[in-house]
Order: sequence, then structure tokens, then C-alpha cells
Amino acid sequence: PLPPPFTRPFRVPPVLTPTRRDESGDHYEITQRAARVEILPGVRTPIWGYNGIFPGPTIISSRGRPVVVTHRNELPVPVVVHLHGGHTPAAHDGFPTDLLYPVGMPPAPHNHPHAGALSYGAREYRYPIDQSAATLWYHDHRMDFTGPAVWRGLAAFHLIHDPAEDRLRLPAGDRDLPIMITDRAFAANGTLRYPSLDPTLSHTPGVTAPYAAGVLGDVLLVNGVPWPLADVPAARHRLRLLNASNARRYRLALDPLPRGGSGLIQIGTDGGLLTEPVVHEAVELAPGQRCDVIVDFSRYRTGQQVTLRNEFGDRTTAVVMRFRVTGPAADPSRIPDSLAPAPASARTAAVRDFHFRHDTLHGRPGWTINGNPFSPAQSNADPLLGTTEVWRLTSDFHHPVHLHLGHFRILSRGIGGPGPYDHGPRDTIDLRPGEQATIAVSFTDYAGRYVFHCHNLEHEDMAMMGVFTTHPRTD
Ligand code: C2O
Ligand code: CU
Repeated sequence: PLPPPFTRPFRVPPVLTPTRRDESGDHYEITQRAARVEILPGVRTPIWGYNGIFPGPTIISSRGRPVVVTHRNELPVPVVVHLHGGHTPAAHDGFPTDLLYPVGMPPAPHNHPHAGALSYGAREYRYPIDQSAATLWYHDHRMDFTGPAVWRGLAAFHLIHDPAEDRLRLPAGDRDLPIMITDRAFAANGTLRYPSLDPTLSHTPGVTAPYAAGVLGDVLLVNGVPWPLADVPAARHRLRLLNASNARRYRLALDPLPRGGSGLIQIGTDGGLLTEPVVHEAVELAPGQRCDVIVDFSRYRTGQQVTLRNEFGDRTTAVVMRFRVTGPAADPSRIPDSLAPAPASARTAAVRDFHFRHDTLHGRPGWTINGNPFSPAQSNADPLLGTTEVWRLTSDFHHPVHLHLGHFRILSRGIGGPGPYDHGPRDTIDLRPGEQATIAVSFTDYAGRYVFHCHNLEHEDMAMMGVFTTHPRTD
């Protein structure tokens, strides 16, 4: 029952309303539950959703105003919520073993020695939001089962605004479009297909052997809609591109290119604005990454159809969505030459090496960092707060490597400098097979235990994750 492309209307996920706003910040409540939603025309697909929708509701925050989200778990399994890209104290960052058990489940009689901070029924996540304007997202992060939980729908946007960005007069309001791209596979009856070894997502983690490199789908969804069509006035729009797919990488381009050439003016990345705009004909996006671009639809004719293509795609995945230019419109927005101050350079306090590679673990294929599978109790790095470290990352395969807590700058790839998509503050770097990259990451505040991992979610679930523990400086 696949719809022909560009027949379903584009939609933006609903923005969540705070239940309360006061001096302590903005308070939200979210219930995670199973639901049936129409993704393919005429059929109901069972999903797991934040408030029962996919994508979940968007949270919009302002820098400096703390956010408290109370998650209630009405799903049949434990969950963990991580704000991806958030600069968050460790207790609220969604460490993979800090489980939130379902409502009604009694506390376990004895805890596993390595169990995290457990909660039952509901849990408060507190976010200081002391960080620059950026496109963040939140998603499930339970140890061993992140891939299938996100595939079922536990993913949503969390956007941060700040006065410095507001002053730039970038396209805003209904010309600021969050675009979550995911691929999914469906069975004939409309259910999502995911090759879990244990479809209850309770006991045995992992996927069947043919999917060990990552699970791909043949249907591309934008904000949960297959290959949608968006009507846009002939004006500049900000597209907040997010690759929330488990394992698929994209190379996105406009077809046709607008009058005057390259169509994608990149203004931001994972952690916020670039120092200045960068013009691309196509942008590459690995799982977990964001790319904020401006497209000026006034450079197209009224009525013109503009396809967002995926140059890495095949038969059904070569197109993502389409825009249709409705007609002239006033446009007060601008694209300033300078967007954000350049980062200060810092002395390197430590250099660390991490090798991401395929391995055999207990006789089964798996993925490791420096030969070690994820172990929550073992710290692979102990950075000091107030210091900057250089991490050298090497890889046997494509691995989108993601760090929690700290944004980083990409210093080099192989023997060259940063690539065309490496500008700005990143939290996920797409390592290519056989490549070495170096990144500089500053640890400013929040002492505690965090993870870094491959954001190919099947690799992550197959143990390609490490722990770093930040410590206060004693001198
Ligand atoms: Cu988006 Cu640790 O993840
Ligand atoms: Cu990987």
C-alpha cells in the first residue's frame, strides 16, 4: 500500500505546550505509549510514541530557561530518554542503564551491581538549556534496545532559540521547518518491520545476522509522512534537516537547482550556528546529524516543483520530499555574512585514541571501541573539566561517532583538513572506512558519567559504545 511519492501533505510535528511556566523554568509532561497511526494510506501502523505520535511533539526552548520534562512510561518495556546535543548534567542525560520502568511495574527485589539510577512509572529530566540556539532531538537510549525503540517511533525535535540568533533575522515562524528524515520498512499489513532477535525487546538484544551492519528501510518518511509534498511561498525558508534514521546515510540536493546555482546555504550544524554561511550543492547527513540550511524559493518560478533528492539512494530512497512554490511573498528574512563568533582555540590537555571496528564477541559478530564492548561500569576516558582534549578516531567501516555532553570541532580527516560538512560545533562525526579523524572537545562543566558511541543504532546496540567520566579539576 505504498503511496506514490509527493501525494501526502507535508506536516510539522506539533509543538508541546508547557503544563506550567514559572521562575524555575518550563515544565512539560510526556507519556510514552503504544498507538496506531496512519503512516501509509488506509492502514493503521502500531507505533511507540512520545504522547502516542511519531515524531513526538517538538519542544521549543530559550537559552537560559531551564526545562523540566516529566516522562511517564506506559510502554511494556523500560525506557531511557536522551536529549541529543544537550549540554546536560549526567543524572539527566539518559545514561543507557538509568532505566525508567513502566507504570505499575514493582521495583525489582535486588539490583544488578551495575544497574544505573532506576525509576518507576515516571521520571523528571531537568535540562539547564545553557547552550546556544540549535536543532536538538530527543530519543530512546536504553542499553541494547535503542535501535528497535527509535524505529518504532521514540524520536522528536527539541529546538533551542537564543537572542543572538533571533537578532540575525533568519527565516522564522512557518518558514522555519523541522525536517526529520527516517527510513522504515513495512509489512503488507502496515506494521513496521524490524529484524529483532527478540520482538518483545525485553531479553535478547540484537538483530538477525543479515542486518548486523545496520537496518535500512525502503520507505522514506519526513516527519512521519512518506515522501511528502510541501507548499511553500516564494521566500527564504530554514530547513532543519535531521537524519533520525537508524543506519542510513543521505546526500541531499535540490532538483532542479535554483536560478543562480547551488541551492543549499548551510547556516548551522549539530551544536548550533556556523561562523558564516557555507554554500553547498548537496549536503551529507549521517545518522544523528543535523544540518540547518536556507533555501530561497524566490529563485524558482511560481508553480515550480522542487524535489529534495537523496543522491545516496536507490530505487525508492532516491527522493525524500518535494516542495511546490505557491507564489510571491514578502520576505523580511536575511542571510547575514557572519552568523556566530569563531570559537576560541585552547591548549590541548590530553590526546586519546579510539578505534571503532568490527569484532567477534562471545563468538558472535559485534562492534567495539578499542576492542572493548560497552560496559557501563568501565570508563574509557577520564577528562578533567575546564580542559580541551584531542581525540583521534579511526574506523574500519562507516561509523557516525557521537559524543554526549560536549560539542566538538573537527580538526582533520586523514591527512587533510576538515571536509565540506565538518564546519561548526558538531556532536556527531561521520567516520569513513579506514579513515582517521581528529576532533577537539572542550569539557566545560558537569562532572559525571557519559557515553560516546556509534550512532548507527544497530552498532550501538551491538556494544559500540564507551564511557567517559568527567572530573572536577583539583588544582
Ligand atoms: Cu542520539 Cu547517545 O545519542
Ligand atoms: Cu558504527
